[in-house]
Amino acid sequence: MYYLCEFDMLQILSRITVIAVFVVSIASCSHKNVGKMPVLSVKNHSFSNYDSITLKHMYLSLKVDFDQRILKGKAVLEIDNHSNCHYLILDTRQLVIDDVLLDDSVSAAWSLGEEVPIVGRALVIELGPKTRKVAVYYETSKDAEALMWLSPEQTLGKKHPFMFTQSQAILARTWVPCMDVPAVRYTYSADIECDKAYLPLMSASNNFKKNTTGKYHFEMPQPIPSYLMALAVGNIEFQSLSANSGVFAEPEMLKKAAAEFSELPAMIDAAGKLYGEYAWGRYDVLVLPPSFPFGGMENPRLTFATPTVIAGDKSLVSLVAHELAHSWSGNLVTNRTWEDFWLNEGFTVYFEDRIMEAVYGKPYADMLMALSVGELNHTLETLMKDGPGDTKLKLNLKNRNPDDGVSDIAYVKGAMFLKYLEGLYGRKVFDDFLNAYFNHFKWQTVTTEEFIEYFKSHMSKWPKIKPELDAWIYEVGLPASCPKIVSVELNRVEAMANSINTEKSLKALDTAAFTTQHWMHLLRHLEADSIKDLMPEMDKAYQLSASTNSEIQCDWYLLCISADYKAADPYLEAYLMSVGRRKFLEPLYERLVLTPEGKEKALRIFRKASGGYHAVSRNTIKEILARTTVK
Ligand code: BES
Ligand code: ZN
Repeated sequence: MYYLCEFDMLQILSRITVIAVFVVSIASCSHKNVGKMPVLSVKNHSFSNYDSITLKHMYLSLKVDFDQRILKGKAVLEIDNHSNCHYLILDTRQLVIDDVLLDDSVSAAWSLGEEVPIVGRALVIELGPKTRKVAVYYETSKDAEALMWLSPEQTLGKKHPFMFTQSQAILARTWVPCMDVPAVRYTYSADIECDKAYLPLMSASNNFKKNTTGKYHFEMPQPIPSYLMALAVGNIEFQSLSANSGVFAEPEMLKKAAAEFSELPAMIDAAGKLYGEYAWGRYDVLVLPPSFPFGGMENPRLTFATPTVIAGDKSLVSLVAHELAHSWSGNLVTNRTWEDFWLNEGFTVYFEDRIMEAVYGKPYADMLMALSVGELNHTLETLMKDGPGDTKLKLNLKNRNPDDGVSDIAYVKGAMFLKYLEGLYGRKVFDDFLNAYFNHFKWQTVTTEEFIEYFKSHMSKWPKIKPELDAWIYEVGLPASCPKIVSVELNRVEAMANSINTEKSLKALDTAAFTTQHWMHLLRHLEADSIKDLMPEMDKAYQLSASTNSEIQCDWYLLCISADYKAADPYLEAYLMSVGRRKFLEPLYERLVLTPEGKEKALRIFRKASGGYHAVSRNTIKEILARTTVK
């Protein structure tokens, strides 16, 4: 008899391993390619053949691997191939495709197209005549742009890692193979597996507590476009605000966040009264770590929000009104293409203003809108020089990144257009129109032209009003018919700023009734050259460098850079190191790079900070640093 000795065992084991590795690697690279690649073309930033094939439902099964910083699993797409297409074409970018199965059994022939900048690679899958289900086995890559993986140090609790997605506009394809175009809506469900210490959340039905298995199921029974798919995983807890709303956050932030958003139920109430019943069941807010690149993201049922709006005095909560409003404008009625982005954001800023007015009164809502109009005027000034085409509501984004269309034009010019219409027809008539519009287009996508067509057939004054409508939508700049927003309070602040500038003294400054917005307006109207010498006095009196209000900090640091007030440097640096919200980073870096010394500082800080920025912010700042040559 021959007994296997330890040495033999080792040899056999190592051979088995070699064979196994060999077989696995053959399996992963020996899939069948498609016979003849179809001609690939990009339409509305997507390769997918959504005109020929309907995507009905997506089922995701993903494991969250914090060690490797990847998601791994499968996406099963249920399709209706109504035009008998030979191929299903999906969008992917930075994905590693392992295998594709048809109807749970047949190995499919598939190929990846050439990489195209911004849009990524088409995944072409050969279909059988009756294929109903396509399962794509895949994993994400470490640099997947939608994904942000945070080390424990980058979280509030400092003990656990955290991850979140940001899919809008065309980043969903970096974590899910899909038809990544807002024209396509589908329902989804998911099974997510992660370490037992964490709670995963999605833009779907959520669990409120961790379980002992680390496995969680999600359902999104309402059809949504891919840009609204979202996932976040971390040490997250929940606090309820009402029967159908609440806040998720790291435990260290939870109480503060819940206190800040205590008026959320009133906002939901007000929104429903304005434009019809809330369509998504629950509305919860997830407060993320500070590297979240946006103020908020309207992921259905679960808005993602930056912690920089938790000011402690509720002064920045209009952000939640904004994301909540998207539950109608954007999520229920969606822009068909990114060139129609104003239909999402302009309607939402208008709706946000109406919610703020209903909950906090007209003077406060007007103050917020007047501040936004100030920002719009500033944006118009630069865009009219650099790219006037981008001041039209209807954008031209051919061969461009949809991110280029994200500006105050879609947001504030869009909202002012609706305010103009409100003034023209009266609030009652215009509200009836908006109600009918949301109701008519719910669960659908709309182009600008369809909006105009609908407007034409539902509103009076046509065709007299057509030229004015066209001017707002298709022409550059701001039409003279733009309503003026008067804020008595901001006018008072402006008068103060003017006297400080001319008298070069703080005598006129009376901050007794100042809110965050008063400060923002004041700081935006002080002239760096005039008040250079007053900076230390102001800082000492109001502790502005050490402020913990993200908006006031941003405006104050901008002034500090221009006035060369060096005492604020450490505070500015700490801010740029800890905040990842692009809206703040962008103007500060832009301001810094105007001088050689500032540019050096910007480069030095960016080198240290960029690892903590989400790709969305990092790419924008990289561009600023590469583009600018110092005079
Ligand atoms: N949907 C946007 C964020 C977005 C737009 C992400 C385009 C990617 C591409 C969100 O609703 C938004 O507008 N956020 C604003 C907040 C706001 C109150 C205007 C933001 O992040 O600053
Ligand atoms: Zn928005």
